[in-house]
Amino acid sequence: MVKSYPTVSEDYLKAVEKARKKLRGLIAEKNCAPIILRLAWHSAGTYDVNTKTGGPFGTIRHPAELAHGANNGLDIAIRLLEPIKEQFPILSYADFYQLAGVVAVEITGGPEIPFHPGREDKPEPPEEGRLPDATKGADHLRDVFGHMGLSDQDIVALSGGHTLGRCHKERSGFEGPWTPNPLIFDNSYFTVLLSGEKEGLIQLPSDKALLTDPAFRPLVEKYAADEDAFFADYAEAHLKLSELGFAEE
Ligand code: HEM
Repeated sequence: MVKSYPTVSEDYLKAVEKARKKLRGLIAEKNCAPIILRLAWHSAGTYDVNTKTGGPFGTIRHPAELAHGANNGLDIAIRLLEPIKEQFPILSYADFYQLAGVVAVEITGGPEIPFHPGREDKPEPPEEGRLPDATKGADHLRDVFGHMGLSDQDIVALSGGHTLGRCHKERSGFEGPWTPNPLIFDNSYFTVLLSGEKEGLIQLPSDKALLTDPAFRPLVEKYAADEDAFFADYAEAHLKLSELGFAEE
């Protein structure tokens, strides 16, 4: 996909850089990188390549979209970010949430992900039901990520986002972190996944699907063995995710 990014003003670019710094401070202070990354991903992951609807366009802050079952708990992330957003009225929510996602990965030790500004806020939330269901397997993951226009490699690399954070019983019905260090972005999601189930750590059915599928498993093994390869593919996939439906020819 050849991208042609919109031009934004000098003032807009300055606001992006200032907001980036404020976000670093907030995320470090509150240890909230996991829920901020989940917000950026759920905001973008509603994109549908066929109808060109949904995607990272700021609609997730609307009560109608926050009420989607998959978004349980993400009102917390919106509330955490709002005091910074208020300082930068020039920025779209669309850009601001994706910038926050990029900062969440960076500040926990993950790869740097390029950020291009210029997304506009869309008025209407997408329909419910476009985000993945954790109780399902590989066919479902390919179906859901395929609608976003993302590949097998993107699915496995992005699943490594579960190196951060945890499940909360009252939000998703599941409980516990994926790794022993849920505030550090590294390749431990893959090393732990390969080493089998452990007391106190979670493996969702959708995580386990990465082990049993013949195309997914070699990528899990590669990322477990080679963190640089994971970071490179993660950064590429996260960039794509953050720009679904944006700056396309
Ligand atoms: C592959 C399909 C995926 C499924 C089925 C899935 C499912 C889930 C579930 C059930 C939770 C627990 C929510 C809670 O109880 O608080 C969760 C949390 C999380 N997910 Fe995913 N997820 C997927 C992909 C991704 C992707 C692509 C990313 C980012 C690149 C991501 C990032 C996160 C993060 C950071 C959390 C932790 C949030 C927190 O600690 O509050 N997930 N996911």
